[in-house]
Amino acid sequence: MTKQTRMNIAPSLAGPHEGYMPGFGNDFETEALPDALPQGMNSPQKCNYGLYGEQLTGTAFTAPSHQNERTWCYRIRPSVKHSARYEKIDMPYWKSAPNVDPDVISLGQYRWDPVPHTDEKLTFVTGMRTMTTAGDVNTQVGMATHVYLATETMEDDYFFSADSEILVVPQDGVLRFYTELGILDVAPQEIAIIPRGLLYRVEVVEGPARGFVCENYGQKFELPGRGPIGANCMANRRDFKSPVAAWEDREVPSTVTIKWCGQFHKTHINQSPLDVVAWHGNYAPVKYDLTTYCPVGSILFDHPDPSIFTVLTAPSGQPGTANIDFVLFRERWMVMEDTFRPPWYHKNIMSELMGNIYGQYDAKPQGFIPGGVSLHNMMIPHGPDNDAFEKASNTELGPEKLDNTMSFMFETRFPQHITAFAANEAPLQDDYMSCWDDIEKKFDGTPGKK
Ligand SMILES: [Fe+2]
Repeated sequence: MTKQTRMNIAPSLAGPHEGYMPGFGNDFETEALPDALPQGMNSPQKCNYGLYGEQLTGTAFTAPSHQNERTWCYRIRPSVKHSARYEKIDMPYWKSAPNVDPDVISLGQYRWDPVPHTDEKLTFVTGMRTMTTAGDVNTQVGMATHVYLATETMEDDYFFSADSEILVVPQDGVLRFYTELGILDVAPQEIAIIPRGLLYRVEVVEGPARGFVCENYGQKFELPGRGPIGANCMANRRDFKSPVAAWEDREVPSTVTIKWCGQFHKTHINQSPLDVVAWHGNYAPVKYDLTTYCPVGSILFDHPDPSIFTVLTAPSGQPGTANIDFVLFRERWMVMEDTFRPPWYHKNIMSELMGNIYGQYDAKPQGFIPGGVSLHNMMIPHGPDNDAFEKASNTELGPEKLDNTMSFMFETRFPQHITAFAANEAPLQDDYMSCWDDIEKKFDGTPGKK
């Protein structure tokens, strides 16, 4: 194990999976001390090493077995010792739905330059800046989107969200998540998912760090069904990685911040809560390398809906209608004949927030830059700017590699409401709508005119 850390880590897996176990939603087992994990049962009368057995559930006890998620932890202290009285604290920039600001108009097409880095001392938690909210955190539907700015490591300062699982999309800088279930290093072009209820702290390995977060209030992210595509391509299960067990026995004054029903609370404890020596189960943090995403597309004419690029989907109660889709637009070949190749003009019932990780996005060659964000809300028209339209309409078509491009979309069935921060403090591009100004009427009734 090459990681320099104060935690004690389970024996590494070899090769590309060093420190991680491959798979998505697998029933993992891992122990950082030999025989710390009970075999053949979950709750022995006495656990080895004097550890406490504790179950963390990610679904209701009676959820259908193919969705049921839980993990058994064997830890130095039970979680009740990592929780004292709670005091409410302010986290003014981290908003939860419903957050409808009467002074903000969410209707429209919006785009932002990157939220600039800052010298301010901000952790992954205090540096969270909410851009939009959708749904209702109290009824566990919908989501929020954030940009994080992190300059400082959380030292003896821990966090968990009871409201949400957290999908992290780094754009700049490298983060290390020290969680109850192990350690994840996450760099740009990778993502991480931290489950609801799991405690962690975040180290800024390379900073300042900036990225995007989708906070999922609802049912967990899962891999989309591939239908006729079959058993391979898109995101493959083996490319997801969950950490091996890691623990520390560290007795120092520490704080735990908790997000619960949109409110923030702090509790003071006397030790690190990252004391899980062994665990088994299928409710675990996971990371994924976006460059392993195998895009599938059209190989003759037209192109499919962007849902073909879905990496992960968080279902709602209505089949095929996601609470959130996480969609990736990455390098790929364009080979379609006699086809307008960029995304067409459209109005969607779903609400789309996009972020640029690096490079240039084909529908908007200018203005949507790495670190930037755009929002096209429910039933708001959008599509290529004039230059992109003219170029794509008139260019001689041949096989073309779209290179140096990685953008993503957090798409939700719910309208996304813009926060006061996004409207007033983030670098909003006031002239974004003018990208369509130059589009001309070409129709004059002449048949065959193109
Ligand atoms: Fe769109």
